[in-house]
Amino acid sequence: MIKFEKVFKRYPGGFEALSDVSFSVEKGELVFVTGHSGAGKSTLLKLILALESVSSGNICVADLSLKDLSRRQIPKLRQRIGTVFQDHQLLTRQTVADNVALPLKISNFPKFEADRRVRAALDKVGLLSKASYFPPMLSSGEQQRVGIARAVVNRPSIILADEPTGNLDPDLSADIMQVFQQFQKVGVALLIASHDINLVNAMGCRTLVLENGRLLK
Ligand SMILES: Nc1ncnc2c1ncn2[C@@H]1O[C@H](COP(=O)(O)OP(=O)(O)O)[C@@H](O)[C@H]1O
Ligand SMILES: [Mg+2]
Repeated sequence: MIKFEKVFKRYPGGFEALSDVSFSVEKGELVFVTGHSGAGKSTLLKLILALESVSSGNICVADLSLKDLSRRQIPKLRQRIGTVFQDHQLLTRQTVADNVALPLKISNFPKFEADRRVRAALDKVGLLSKASYFPPMLSSGEQQRVGIARAVVNRPSIILADEPTGNLDPDLSADIMQVFQQFQKVGVALLIASHDINLVNAMGCRTLVLENGRLLK
């Protein structure tokens, strides 16, 4: 689903954030990326989303080779990927359901099918009963689950998460990880960046370790 081939990323100014990174993530795999602050975790995720471009090497995402991707194809790429961030940036004046529906509105989904998908996504994260709440009425763990529902409402084959439990205490973090594992079970490929070594180790999943832009194992 995701394949890095000898990827280097140099930012303008010359700083090399990733050096010779190769790995792949298959369908139905949950893989962590860990490493110190500044190791290159977020850069790696940004490359997959084509928010940044590689300096050399190549990345394949699903059936798309990013080296050959035109600007016009970028929406097609991003449709296949659900993204979850530490700061979920929910709209506080819209209901939970409307927040989750946002990606479908952008792609002009018919309302009936959109409602069905929103309910299914909220059900998966255990928040169907709070569909009509507003985000400030929810706990931080619940808000993060709304963010995940929004990320999966388009039924992506890949989920990328950047420090998804950064603001949560250990119990809530474990809940979020369970939600991710459910998507893994149905065949989604997940790549989760986290510097929380305890959480990553507790999960017992395959882990990529970055150090100064290089993959250690
Ligand atoms: N847009 C940018 N321009 C220049 N340097 C950057 C940019 N983004 C990140 N970097 C640098 O690249 C390195 C890796 O950053 P990042 O991928 O955010 O690491 P992490 O997510 O592991 O903390 C850091 O040294 C950071 O300062
Ligand atoms: Mg980061």
